[in-house]
Amino acid sequence: MTQARWTLVIHGGSGSMERGRLSPDADAAGRAGLHAALVAGGKILSAGGDATDAVEAAVRVLEDDPAFNAGRGSVYTADGTIECDAAVMAGDTLAAGGVAGVTATRNPVSLARAVMERSPHVLLTGAGADAFSVEQGLEQAGPDWFATPERRRQLDEMLARPDGGFDSGMKYGTVGAVAVDAAGHVAAATSTGGLTAKRWGRVGDSPLIGAGTYADNRAAAISCTGAGEYFIRLGVAHEICARVRLAGETIEEAADGMIDALGDLGGKGGVIVVGPDGSGGWAFNTPGMYRGMISHDSAPEVAIYGDE
Ligand code: GLY
Repeated sequence: MTQARWTLVIHGGSGSMERGRLSPDADAAGRAGLHAALVAGGKILSAGGDATDAVEAAVRVLEDDPAFNAGRGSVYTADGTIECDAAVMAGDTLAAGGVAGVTATRNPVSLARAVMERSPHVLLTGAGADAFSVEQGLEQAGPDWFATPERRRQLDEMLARPDGGFDSGMKYGTVGAVAVDAAGHVAAATSTGGLTAKRWGRVGDSPLIGAGTYADNRAAAISCTGAGEYFIRLGVAHEICARVRLAGETIEEAADGMIDALGDLGGKGGVIVVGPDGSGGWAFNTPGMYRGMISHDSAPEVAIYGDE
């Protein structure tokens, strides 16, 4: 009997992480969070579970972990508020859901899934999305849940810059997961607080289907991290699928090609990708990216720096 094949790849954001710049505590916290997310998602896939369930479970762990810029630990807007974006997509049906600018749902990725499965819509924003969350009975959380002193410090530092610098330290954060399950179905999920000192009302690539998140059984599942404006302009996640499906590229070629295109435009960030054949990987043009992979025949592996 052949063993069922499955793969889960996750990210906890790309950015300026370099050896020596991260404290040992921050390094260890990042690795522990990634490991826990891989275990949560891998448990579902190893039991024969669904790729969408696995990516949601992995992202929920990262959202609850204040080390990452999503859910608890999200970055602040320039006005000192926290506005979260998230999306999920199932590659077997092309069903998709996203939320933008949500403020009170503990796990925004689960709200995105509720939009996908319990509404006729694909994207809900702001107060309407917050109201839908309450109607659907999702767990609510107050501002104190999301707030962390480190994110506040990062905002204060940025606002104090004479040029009013906007995420100039490349602390991009964002979390995501892509998976292929034993049935060969792929799924993707992404969640983020966005960019430090963003204007309130700004929406990044993460909740936009085709920009920061996409899944199609005919090609791949993708979750992106980085400077969202560039990912939106290039339609990165969908174009990776299009390159695989229509141009015959491998997922690695397509991911590398889109990161090259991103760099040509001046953008920085990364992508994680899986194919329906069980292949998985990543590409990024920042010094580091929190990332990890687990599969039917490999134990959880995590990495942060570009030389790992
Ligand atoms: N990539 C996350 C954002 O730009 O909001």
